[in-house]
Amino acid sequence: MKKIAVIGTGYVGLVSGACFAEAGNRVTCCDIDEKKIANLWNGIMPIYEPGLKELVQQNVEKGTLYFTSHTEEAIREAEVIFIAVGTPMSATGEADLTYIKQAAGTIGDNLTGYKVIVTKSTVPVGTGKTVESIVRERSRDNQAFDIVSNPEFLREGAAIKDSMNMERAVIGTASEKAFQIIADLHKPFTSTIVKATVESAELIKYAANAFLATKISFINDIANICDRVGADVTKVAEGIGLDSRIGNKFLQAGIGFGGSCFPKDTAALLHIAESSGYDFNLIKAVIETNEGQRARLVSKLETALGSMKGKTFSVLGLAFKPNTNDTRYSPALDIIPQLRDMGAMVKAFDPIAIGEAKKQLGNQCIYSDNVYETVKNTDACVILTDWQEVKQLDLMKVKRLMNNPLIVDGRNLFDLEQMDQLGFTYISMGRPAVQKETVISNAI
Ligand code: UDX
Repeated sequence: MKKIAVIGTGYVGLVSGACFAEAGNRVTCCDIDEKKIANLWNGIMPIYEPGLKELVQQNVEKGTLYFTSHTEEAIREAEVIFIAVGTPMSATGEADLTYIKQAAGTIGDNLTGYKVIVTKSTVPVGTGKTVESIVRERSRDNQAFDIVSNPEFLREGAAIKDSMNMERAVIGTASEKAFQIIADLHKPFTSTIVKATVESAELIKYAANAFLATKISFINDIANICDRVGADVTKVAEGIGLDSRIGNKFLQAGIGFGGSCFPKDTAALLHIAESSGYDFNLIKAVIETNEGQRARLVSKLETALGSMKGKTFSVLGLAFKPNTNDTRYSPALDIIPQLRDMGAMVKAFDPIAIGEAKKQLGNQCIYSDNVYETVKNTDACVILTDWQEVKQLDLMKVKRLMNNPLIVDGRNLFDLEQMDQLGFTYISMGRPAVQKETVISNAI
């Protein structure tokens, strides 16, 4: 049992804190936002994440999980301090380290006895050293401490599962003592530990996310070639994915990646490369392909319909992926304003992300959490998120409700033959279009 303080109650901080508490540690999650802390005590989560509310409540009841806005006190009591604050993308693509530096300063001010200071936030290489020097500078009595980089690989929507069953834990530190302490904390979650230096651990996180993003952009480039040569990208992905050296994951072609990590981390890695004097062309291309996919979907819709002016579209999915209400860098936030600019009306469906999307989109569309209400009387349906509710649509009902049975699918959810039999014009990404002449000419 260790006494742990977690600074920052965002995705990473809250999930990690709850999981360390579940493993029997005494965890205090800290945040400067007092309202957030009060809500957490009352069982109100700041994010939607399956299983999180239950896990938090169980551990609050057991007395293993606490919340406070008095970060100083939590630091003084803790043996291990995790920094899990945000590192948003700055205007130049660099990670903004303001919150990390603030956290390091507060730790330095309140250092009482030996502590292990662990960075969980995704931070540029060299941040461990920055944290170390801030803590040293601000600590009055020259207290002993060690610095560890312990990046987080959890996925939104599967965060608890990913944290409880890690494929690996990466622990970067120059201190054997700190390594043992953090390795012991991870024993309940994984037996595979990668021991590294702080710098290597920091880079592992960026390299992992950039590699996954590269897989997605690669298959999207192949999809764009498939569109030109009449091939089917799902077959190509299946054919290459069975080679175990390639693997079949992250080969789902579509409108590209969004979310709080891949766009930010690819831009940050490019920045790290540039400032180290390296021209990382591959990552530039990954970002460019990703940005192009959204425009490609809109142009497919435009080609199918002729003019967009005066048309009404149903957009299915506002979240950047299913099982989350997160809309950061979500395709919908780009695509809906584009459709509006082209003179269209938009009705948008999402089961849980409407509140978040409204903050950005305001009244640019009519929102509903009922998918059939959304598709009703629309001239085309545009699929942007692979929600279960969308995958399981009663397509006959959809066809009856729509003005015009045209679906443009950014996630390749449906079988081409089935869509043909049902009488849809069905346009997806990197797969042959199912065209119904009469429908298209009606629509123009
Ligand atoms: C990602 C990493 O997976 C995780 O390890 C890291 O800690 C944070 O970033 P997350 O952003 O939650 O997690 O989502 P993920 O499930 O990885 O999907 C990212 C994006 O890629 C989504 O927009 C998703 O729709 C897209 N994607 C994913 C594809 O377009 N195709 C795929 O084959 C896989």
